[in-house]
Amino acid sequence: MVTEFKSFWQQLNDLKKRAIDLNSRFSQSAQKLQNDGTPLPETLVEELAAYRRDFDRLRVEIQEFTAPQVAQLSVVTLEDLERLLLKTEVAKIRAWHHSIDLGCGVITPGGGQTFSPRSEQRIGLPENLAGMTVLDVGAWDGFYSFASEKRGAKRVLATDSFVWQSPMFGKGGFELARTVLNSQVEDMEIDVLELSPEKVGVFDLVLFLGVLYHMRHPLLALDRVFSVTGKQLILETHVDMLDCQRPALAFYPRAELNNDATNWFGPNALAVQGMLESAGFRDIKIVNTSPVSGASARMVFHAWR
Ligand SMILES: C[S@@+](CC[C@H](N)C(=O)[O-])C[C@H]1O[C@@H](n2cnc3c(N)ncnc32)[C@H](O)[C@@H]1O
Repeated sequence: MVTEFKSFWQQLNDLKKRAIDLNSRFSQSAQKLQNDGTPLPETLVEELAAYRRDFDRLRVEIQEFTAPQVAQLSVVTLEDLERLLLKTEVAKIRAWHHSIDLGCGVITPGGGQTFSPRSEQRIGLPENLAGMTVLDVGAWDGFYSFASEKRGAKRVLATDSFVWQSPMFGKGGFELARTVLNSQVEDMEIDVLELSPEKVGVFDLVLFLGVLYHMRHPLLALDRVFSVTGKQLILETHVDMLDCQRPALAFYPRAELNNDATNWFGPNALAVQGMLESAGFRDIKIVNTSPVSGASARMVFHAWR
């Protein structure tokens, strides 16, 4: 199925290039016809007819391939066809975490509520990442990896383990978005605790977003993250015990947080700062806090090596 999608996607892109080229040559010839009566070149007329035939053939093939619930969409233009194909592929992914704009009005239905540019602003992702290397730890569908690439990062590595290896979730969303966005983001399936300069290298900027509270060994995880950070870390996390004036972590031995047994700890801000310091980070700043509910919230920290 993935191979079939990639082949259709490639054919659509080839058709798009032909359409642009034909359109520009047709405009020039039409201008000549208007100016001095030069007739449209016969080869161009033939090319236009061939293009129409290829478009119709691809439309029939894609309509046969697509899910019945979207196959009924009317297809007049290349963009309609692109939308039809994208909607079918997006619907095949069982659970999207990120809302990613794939173009043609198709936005993946992410439960994680990531929307550009609000989400990048919330974590304080630098506007200009030109020439920088970025490591996105726990990338899931890759929203922040693609955002980093868009901001000019020269190399982005997306890593994950739990979701990408899970039969319930998988890596399909990341792979589909990467193909559609024509992205060069690299990927590696690796656990946070396995990160090391030898295995992944060292990156100017490391994103560790929404992962800390999933760690059974949060200090060890931050040690591993520090080892691969060249300059800056952006850490986003659930925080708890904000009513406690000392560094403290709430422990969720079962599924106390969001009914999710993969959540282990809710540190307060003082604890996150202390843990980052203990791992070796300095110049630690809180750059964003969501509205506090009870004693918990979400916070974003920036830290430097
Ligand atoms: C809440 S999601 C956050 C996704 C994304 N970073 C974001 O902020 O939108 C947590 C991610 O961390 C990943 N994760 C959890 N435990 C992990 C581990 N031990 N090693 C690598 N990734 C892990 C999950 O697979 C999931 O993709």
